Amino acid sequence: MKAVRIHAYKQTPAVENIPMPEVAADQVLVRIEAAALNPLDALVVSGGAAQFFNIQLPITPGTDFAGMIVEVGSAVENWQAGDRVIVWTDAGSGGGFAQFAAVPASACVTLPLKLSAAEGAAIPIAATTAWHSLFSTAGLKAGETVLIHAAAGGVGTFAIQFAKRAGARVIATASGDGIELAARLGADQVIDYTSQDFVELVHDVDLVLDLVGGETQLRSFEVLRRGGRLISTAMPPDTSIAQSFGVSASIFYAAPYAERLGELVSAVIEQEVTVVIDREVPLTAFADAWARLTSGHARGKIILKSEIFN
Ligand SMILES: NC(=O)c1ccc[n+]([C@@H]2O[C@H](COP(=O)([O-])OP(=O)(O)OC[C@H]3O[C@@H](n4cnc5c(N)ncnc54)[C@H](OP(=O)(O)O)[C@@H]3O)[C@@H](O)[C@H]2O)c1
Repeated sequence: MKAVRIHAYKQTPAVENIPMPEVAADQVLVRIEAAALNPLDALVVSGGAAQFFNIQLPITPGTDFAGMIVEVGSAVENWQAGDRVIVWTDAGSGGGFAQFAAVPASACVTLPLKLSAAEGAAIPIAATTAWHSLFSTAGLKAGETVLIHAAAGGVGTFAIQFAKRAGARVIATASGDGIELAARLGADQVIDYTSQDFVELVHDVDLVLDLVGGETQLRSFEVLRRGGRLISTAMPPDTSIAQSFGVSASIFYAAPYAERLGELVSAVIEQEVTVVIDREVPLTAFADAWARLTSGHARGKIILKSEIFN
C-alpha cells in the first residue's frame, strides 16, 4: 500500500510503498478515505513531539482520519467490516497519511451520514482544541467577549462558530481572504493583523484564545480585563506576567479529550457548524499538502484524499 513515511527526524515526508499493516486482536483495519493535516504532524516530523509521545521510526504521520473498517481483530466486538469511522490516533502511532491503517478499536467513533469523510477527518484535533479550550478550560459563557487569534486556521474556524453559538461576542484576527472567512463564520469584528494593531482596537475582553504564541501572546495580556483569562494552544504562557496583569493564563493540550470525540462530532452536526476545508490533495501529491501546512496560512483544514476515492 502507499503511505507517507519518515525514517529520520527532519526528513521531508514522502510517499512510499510499504506492506499492509497487521491487525492485532484489539485493532481494526481502516481503509482511509480522507486524512487531515495538523501542525502536530510537523512537530512529529521535526522530532519536537518525541518529548511528549513514544515515537518509533520509521513512522507514518497523521492522527486524524476517516474511512471504512475492512477487517476487525479477534477481540473487537463493537465494530464490523463496512462501518464508516472517524479515527483519532496518538501522535506516537500516527498512520493516517496512508491507504490503510490498523488502529485500536477504541480510537474510532462513527462517521455520521451527514458528514463527508473529509469533514469527519477534519474534526478530531482541531474541533476538540477549539471546543475544550473555550469551554472545558476557559469556561466561556454567553455574553462574554472572546478574542480569537489565527481565526481563519484549522482550530480558529471551529472556535469562531462554537463561541458564537454559545452566545459570546467574537473578535477575530486574520489577514487576506481570512478576514472575509472569519466574518462569514460569524465573527462580530475582524482585525487585519498585518495592518492593524489589535492592542489599540480591543479592550477589556474576557478571554483570549491564543493560537499563535510569541509576541501575539505577550501583547494579548494588555487587552484582557482584570480577572480575564488567556488560553494558548501554541506556547505555555508566563504565569508571572499574567499575575502582573491580574489575569489567569494556561496552556491547552488536546490529547486528554480523545475519549469525548463522539460527543464533539454530534455537536458539530447539531450546531450546524461548517467544517472549513482549505483544499483536498491526493495522497500521491502529499508534498503539496505538506507545503501548505508548513506555510502556516491554511484556511480551515488541509485534507489528504486516498486516491482510491478521488
Ligand atoms: N496544544 C494543542 O493540543 C494544540 C492542538 C491544536 C493546535 N495547536 C496549535 O495551535 C496553533 C493553531 O493550530 P491550527 O491547526 O489552527 O493551525 P493552522 O491551521 O496552521 O493556522 C493557520 C492560520 O494561522 C493564521 N495566522 C498565523 N499567524 C497569525 C497571526 N500572527 N495572527 C493571526 N493569524 C495568524 C494564518 O492566517 P494568515 O494566513 O492570514 O497569516 C492561518 O489562517 C498551532 O500553533 C498549533 O500547533 C495546539
